[in-house]
Amino acid sequence: MYRTVLLAICLVLALAGLTGATGGGKTLLYGGAGQGRVIFDGRLHASKGFVCNDCHSAIFETKKQALITMQDHFQDRACFVCHNGKRAFAECDACHRRFDTPAKTVVKLCGAASVVDGLIAPHKAAVERATGYRLDVVKSNAGKGLIDLADQQCDASLASASVETVVKGAKAAGRELDSSNMQLHTILMDQVVFVVHPGNKVQSLTFQQLKDIHTGKTRNWKELGGADQAIKVVTDTLSSATRGLIKQAVLKNEEYLAETLAVNVATISDEIAKDPAAIGGLGAGFVKTGVVVVKTDKIERPLGLITIGAPSEKVRKVIEAYKDTVAK
Ligand code: HEC
Ligand code: HEC
Ligand code: HEC
Repeated sequence: MYRTVLLAICLVLALAGLTGATGGGKTLLYGGAGQGRVIFDGRLHASKGFVCNDCHSAIFETKKQALITMQDHFQDRACFVCHNGKRAFAECDACHRRFDTPAKTVVKLCGAASVVDGLIAPHKAAVERATGYRLDVVKSNAGKGLIDLADQQCDASLASASVETVVKGAKAAGRELDSSNMQLHTILMDQVVFVVHPGNKVQSLTFQQLKDIHTGKTRNWKELGGADQAIKVVTDTLSSATRGLIKQAVLKNEEYLAETLAVNVATISDEIAKDPAAIGGLGAGFVKTGVVVVKTDKIERPLGLITIGAPSEKVRKVIEAYKDTVAK
């Protein structure tokens, strides 16, 4: 009993005295076993919102520098509870500073899932090689990304529509933003298409017919020469740019019918593949097997980065590198 109390007092004293220690700001240096030294920056980790309890003592004892082995790297132990490529990065070079070169410049991009999956992710490694930067990509949607840009949470936001359309997306997500100083840097032109189930006889539609379907004027496939079946419209989330573009180009800014099923853009194709009554619009890059692309007029859209004012030097380099890479 006495010993427990004494221990408790010691612990309180230790924590009180050392709050400036690791979580608070201390930097630990690991030799790195020839792989390049590794710096653990306590202040940086605290700034990510971690408190002492997140690491002590579930992950680390508060005694200096546990033995960290190669197995730990791949078994979610020690640093790799977080640095497993999910909660935080797992790239070797980001921790093991080869030849102790300074930390890489990080360029943070945030926004449209369609731009991440259709452009940013596939060419990320090449662009990192070309620029020497590390790209930190947060995937949400165009409207949310623009809000994050305005809040200085990222260096550029990712958009798959004009600035005006994306500003509307941000508004749908709850924020009115001033577009006057925003610049869209287009890297690639992408196409938006509509898909239906292969069992659906209706595989060709005019914009007017698509508009009537999406606004609820046409509600049964029978009216279009198909089966006697209620039409189910599947769309992207409310603040997405794809949805905004369809609304502008096809719906002529009328509202989607209320019963629309809104899902993440990556699952639209799957939803339609399992439902003969469904139809939905999405970026051509998201079309998977099990659906048929409806014949209609072409809808094109830009995939690119938005900056507020002219891009900073590092963002400009990233834009150039993406343009070079997609041109190859
Ligand atoms: C993100 C994880 C993380 C957080 C949060 C964190 N620590 Fe640590 N702490 C470490 C690591 C890693 C070590 C080194 C121990 C090891 O390698 O086993 C360490 C070591 C320590 C040590 C020993 C330092 C030395 O130089 O011997 C103390 C004391 C400590 N932490 C206190 C705290 C306190 C107090 C907080 C909250 C204010 C805190 N830590 C938050 C990861 C963390
Ligand atoms: C509790 C979760 C957690 C633990 C444990 C943890 N980290 Fe991190 N670490 C993070 C997060 C989150 C970031 C921020 C990642 C980002 O911004 O991409 C980060 C960032 C870093 C960075 C980048 C710093 C910079 O300059 O951008 C390094 C290096 C790093 N951690 C090393 C370590 C090492 C070494 C350990 C183990 C001793 C460790 N971390 C343990 C969560 C953790
Ligand atoms: C989150 C930061 C982090 C990342 C990411 C990381 N390491 Fe490590 N690595 C460490 C730390 C910390 C040590 C311990 C160094 C020490 O004790 O001197 C270590 C140790 C090692 C060791 C020596 C292991 C031993 O048993 O002696 C090797 C080899 C190694 N890392 C390779 C890699 C490779 C390869 C990658 C990429 C797949 C990688 N590391 C990614 C932090 C990291």
